[in-house]
Amino acid sequence: MQRRPRDSACLVEIVEGSSDDVIRIDRVSKIYQTGDILVHALRGLTLTIRRGEFVAIMGPSGSGKSTLMNVIGCLDRPTKGKYFLEGVDVSTMGKSELADVRNKRVGFVFQSFNLVSRTSALENVELPLLYAGVSGSERKRRAKEALAIVGLSDRERNMPNQLSGGQQQRVALARALVNNPSIVLADEPTGALDTRTSVEVMEIFQRLNRERKLTVIIVTHEADISLYAERVILVRDGRIASDAPVGNRWNAAEVLRNMPEIPAESEDLEELEGRSISKE
Ligand SMILES: Nc1ncnc2c1ncn2[C@@H]1O[C@H](COP(=O)(O)OP(=O)(O)OP(=O)(O)O)[C@@H](O)[C@H]1O
Ligand SMILES: [Mg+2]
Repeated sequence: MQRRPRDSACLVEIVEGSSDDVIRIDRVSKIYQTGDILVHALRGLTLTIRRGEFVAIMGPSGSGKSTLMNVIGCLDRPTKGKYFLEGVDVSTMGKSELADVRNKRVGFVFQSFNLVSRTSALENVELPLLYAGVSGSERKRRAKEALAIVGLSDRERNMPNQLSGGQQQRVALARALVNNPSIVLADEPTGALDTRTSVEVMEIFQRLNRERKLTVIIVTHEADISLYAERVILVRDGRIASDAPVGNRWNAAEVLRNMPEIPAESEDLEELEGRSISKE
């Protein structure tokens, strides 16, 4: 894998606008062409997200949510329209410039975790720093710090297959944070997790959002999960169908406190055995 120079210069155009607008998408369209077929995944979508906001994006399958996340995260460029990330016009950037911006400003979390197998939790978290050309000792220090933030200091040496789904997602979250990005994008981060683990992950997102003023944008199909955000955007047919604040926002830490602990497996078995004995 190729290392990137630490501070590779990128020529950027600073434009006017509120410095609090971390994302400004102006009439963006994204058209995919597969053979003769054109798919209009985004149709002139306009959206502004301010620094430190916690946004949930919802909408039916195929409505353009992931496409929008890919544009926001500089993984893909709009076919038409403008996109300003922290005041910088990224819609016309070339691939390598875009990769630079992405590595410095965006952290990604995916539904399927996307960890590198046979590579420890610590090394997985170090990876973005390796690409950014950060030295070995500094990489370790920052990766350990990121794992501590997600509560996994005691799992640094575990391989992904030695971690639960929730722990793997927390490693992925640490990896997304390690470059100190301005925004974290998560496409269905709780899609593969059980209820309690989902709330645990949402608790970390809420904490980072509150304490570090990190801008968090998640895509979710679950109405429950969207209530941990402060604003819900509904995407339909490549456009924004509605955009509204969450009236009675849920606090994940509080929900966790009120959630019954799931008994450990051994206790579970004992309890079941106890029940069957007492019934007979
Ligand atoms: N790389 C691609 N090439 C061609 N068409 C694509 C590509 N990516 C997405 N599309 C199409 O664009 C439309 C929007 O897809 P997108 O993945 O953004 O939907 P989504 O809202 O994320 O759906 P889901 O909830 O199922 O994940 C779909 O019709 C899809 O088939
Ligand atoms: Mg999707």
